[in-house]
Amino acid sequence: MAFLGQHTRRLVGLGGSMRDQSRSRAGLRTALEMAQTRGFEVELLDVRELNLPIYVPYLPIEQYPADAQANIRRLMDTVRRADAMVWASPTYHGAVSGIFKNTVDYFEYLGDDMLPYLHGIPVGLMACNDPVTNASMVMMVAELKGWPAPTQITLGRVHFDEQLNLIDERIKRKMGQMMDELWEFKK
Ligand SMILES: Cc1cc2nc3c(=O)[nH]c(=O)nc-3n(C[C@H](O)[C@H](O)[C@H](O)COP(=O)(O)O)c2cc1C
Repeated sequence: MAFLGQHTRRLVGLGGSMRDQSRSRAGLRTALEMAQTRGFEVELLDVRELNLPIYVPYLPIEQYPADAQANIRRLMDTVRRADAMVWASPTYHGAVSGIFKNTVDYFEYLGDDMLPYLHGIPVGLMACNDPVTNASMVMMVAELKGWPAPTQITLGRVHFDEQLNLIDERIKRKMGQMMDELWEFKK
């Protein structure tokens, strides 16, 4: 039954890598499945699928290549409608991957919104291989006025089977805890 003032809560996953066998994408998919069991509507923004050109500061969206504009707008619209996010990036040379950072750089187009950037939005963070990447994502989320969820996850090779199913029970429990934090966060 729908109650007055109740609205569907949307969780948006952002991340992945250019690899077919991406563990960050696999982890993100598992997180979105868990989010659905809490009641979230979910959407995946796969950075490989978005395939955005290098962000150009202050360039109007209409001046990006025609085939990129729809995905830039999809990114903006989807993030604007998010009540919560989960990010997942590989570690490349001690930080987030280039394509992940480039995709987040487009959030600059949300800077003039009434609620700018990720204002008031909780973000769960997952990094492949090295927790240092979670630390850099905490800074990114804070800079964008969002709220990093207290539970952060580092995904390693041993946590998945050959079909990229998440098999580590401790990581699954942590992921569930992160989903509970995102669900309970009040906007
Ligand atoms: C160019 C490159 C740089 C990397 N640098 C690091 C690193 O600094 N620290 C680390 O722990 N792993 C590093 N890795 C390993 C990746 O983080 C790891 O393979 C991760 O699973 C990749 O994410 P994906 O499975 O989503 O593609 C690197 C991998 C590549 C390809």
